[in-house]
Amino acid sequence: MTGAASPKRLELVPARAVPRRLEDLPAPRALPWLGNLHQLDAKRLHAQLEAWAAKLGSSYTFKFGSRPVFVTADVDIALSALRDRPGRFRRLATIEPVTAEMGVNGLFSVEGDAWRQQRNIVARALAPHQLESFFPTLQAITDRLRRRWQQSADAATEANILDDLTRFTVDTTATLVFGKDINTLESDGDVIQRHIGVIFPKINSRVSAFLPYWRFFKLPSDRKLDQSLDAVRAFAEDMIRHARERMLRSHGEAPRNILEVMLALRDAPESGFSDDDVYANIMTLLLAGEDTTAYSIAWAMHILGTDRDLQVRLHKAALDALGDARIPRTFADAAKLGLFEGAAFEAMRLRPVAPLLTLQAKEDVELGGIAIPRGTPVFLLTRPAALDDSNYQHAREFRPERWVGRREGGRDGHNARAFMQFGAGPRFCPGRYLATLEMKMVLAMLFRSFCIEHVDDPESTKEIFAFTMMPHRLRMRFRAIA
Ligand code: HEM
Repeated sequence: MTGAASPKRLELVPARAVPRRLEDLPAPRALPWLGNLHQLDAKRLHAQLEAWAAKLGSSYTFKFGSRPVFVTADVDIALSALRDRPGRFRRLATIEPVTAEMGVNGLFSVEGDAWRQQRNIVARALAPHQLESFFPTLQAITDRLRRRWQQSADAATEANILDDLTRFTVDTTATLVFGKDINTLESDGDVIQRHIGVIFPKINSRVSAFLPYWRFFKLPSDRKLDQSLDAVRAFAEDMIRHARERMLRSHGEAPRNILEVMLALRDAPESGFSDDDVYANIMTLLLAGEDTTAYSIAWAMHILGTDRDLQVRLHKAALDALGDARIPRTFADAAKLGLFEGAAFEAMRLRPVAPLLTLQAKEDVELGGIAIPRGTPVFLLTRPAALDDSNYQHAREFRPERWVGRREGGRDGHNARAFMQFGAGPRFCPGRYLATLEMKMVLAMLFRSFCIEHVDDPESTKEIFAFTMMPHRLRMRFRAIA
């Protein structure tokens, strides 16, 4: 029989799902012209977006002025977008001009061919096998931090945790990447971290600003930024001078660190790599390597400061791994610090320094059954999936052993895809091996020799979003363990 198809027959033809449009997604109530701008505070952006996800569901939109922004906390959708780079997604397009005018448009913010070239250099230099030869230096820097904390314990004074930890991470990055030990841990002067600390929040507020007012007039905070950029540029120029002198003395020896690789590339004919690119990448590595790692350790300390039993367990684990030593003695010792790595990962999961990854669609694209028009900002929330019991058993509990091997009683079969603290896809964090090593070295050193407690009510420590999520008002003190 021909003619009109029966309804049964029609069901056999797979229906092509029509993608949902952004307008079909849930959205918080918006005002005309302003959209949801009146509800957004750059310092609490992550918290507002997470609150909307809890209320509206994992994928929704909000309005930045009249412009829709797509937000998702769905792991599959987030991973599809992160992996589709540099193909159909890029970083949020406001990031590149903001970093370029500050002179810090390096690997994190560049796009296209420039990204490929820079990625290669940085990823090779930060690969795990490079870290073994760097280990003795990291060990020495960790011991300086231990001595600083010992002084604080001896004096029974409150420690300035964030300051100490950023000194530690900047000393580490500068020595590994630029070959210069700046030893801010043992100096008390006007250290470079103070200036770096000005730049990150300013990138954050400018990237999310409704109008680029600073191109027309400057507020006191913009003038302060300019001073910090000048100070950091002088610091970088000093690094470059130092590296050039060494290269001259070494008569064509292979480059010893990332800065020397970049300078050699800068000098190669037609490399297209300029002085500005060298400077921008020095800055990028200092910025990317400082707050992220320091704040992740600080969040771990914040959480552990309220859990005496876990501190005792970590002390025992440190004694097992280190014996009489106060810090890991060899690279192989560091491999035995699984529980400390687990503690760092739990802190990153519960208190993510990267709660929000911001991308933009380069063309019209369908993502998770949703039609995303070209140019739409795509915001990925990393925490909701990490707190979901379907991804982690008892997801809201701090359980370092869930990250260690089964033999040590760990591995709860969690969904590793739901951990997006280092991003994913071709642009995942190239510093994650270094960061992981730094975090476990510091935590093992800490719990081998000290116990820690909060000076204030831990609830008074607040999350502040300044490109990375920092603990505000973290006040702690140390007690030495014999
Ligand atoms: C706990 C510490 C750290 C965290 C949580 C972290 C997190 C991230 C995240 C989420 C991204 C974006 C990834 C993506 O778009 O898929 C990123 C990129 C990056 N990170 Fe890290 N990071 C950390 C430490 C470091 C360190 C120590 C360095 C280097 C010294 C570093 C250098 C970079 C660079 C250069 C990029 C840009 C990569 C690219 O766009 O190709 N990070 N990081």
